[in-house]
Amino acid sequence: NTYETILVRREGRVGVITLNRPKALNALNEQTMNDVVAAATELDRDSAIGAIVLTGSEKAFAAGADIKEMGSKTASDMYREDYFAAWDGFARLRTPKIAAVAGYALGGGCELAMMCDIILAADTAKFGQPEITLGVIPGMGGTQRLTRAVGKAKAMDLILTGRQMDAEEAERSGLVSRVVPADSLLDTALEVAAKIGGMSKPATQHAVETVSAAYETTLAAGLQYERRVFHGLFSTKDQKEGMAAFAEKRKANFSHE
Ligand code: HXC
Repeated sequence: NTYETILVRREGRVGVITLNRPKALNALNEQTMNDVVAAATELDRDSAIGAIVLTGSEKAFAAGADIKEMGSKTASDMYREDYFAAWDGFARLRTPKIAAVAGYALGGGCELAMMCDIILAADTAKFGQPEITLGVIPGMGGTQRLTRAVGKAKAMDLILTGRQMDAEEAERSGLVSRVVPADSLLDTALEVAAKIGGMSKPATQHAVETVSAAYETTLAAGLQYERRVFHGLFSTKDQKEGMAAFAEKRKANFSHE
């Protein structure tokens, strides 16, 4: 498949999606949303793919939703189109998604990174929710996901002032899991993704679902859910293989079934 606004490639069990609207700093328009959702959904459904890396350019992961596309829409347009609701289809995918962020991840760019399961940041990364400077608020999950990721104090600070946060502050506040030198960002992301991709896909997918449930539910219901999923994984070939390999002191060879 070829797409207008992204590049897609496969490296072993890793699918790599690169946002590719360099002239607009990867601003997210409707086409980008449709491209990313379609490409990521195809990778998610493929048992030969065990992890997805989403990245941008050196200068920008994505500088937000496309202001020029949105600017003249009315509230009625936005509601009728359910503007950008289709991103939910990306957030919902269960194949582990890694955002590899260099440069600007602003507005919808930051929100898109937060739809991923892991955010790796280059030391050049800048995160922010500048929507307030445009007379609006975040609309792709920022008020909810950023608050859960970094807590109310910092989320309010970022969302009300529109200021940018550097990679170091983003790591300190729990938004990103690692900061690496910009020139090794993609290698690190591919390494992490390959490692995850080598695990049993049913196991990693269920891990994504259960950890994500921690944001949606009570502790008691979450623990119950975890236990049910844990029990259920004993129906997979990969559980038998993983535990047999341990006992036989060899590396597991997962079939992702
Ligand atoms: C459309 C954008 C854009 C955006 C940059 N560009 N961001 N176009 N939407 N979000 C375009 C510029 O218009 C310019 O095009 C080109 O990309 C290069 O950008 P410059 O501004 O010249 O680059 P620079 O001076 O380096 O500044 C980088 C920047 C700045 C600080 C990231 O571009 C910026 O502030 N961008 C907007 C960030 C923002 O407010 N994002 C939030 C969007 S609202 P031309 O044609 O002039 O060369 C949002 C809501 C999400 O995300 C919810 C949706 C439902």
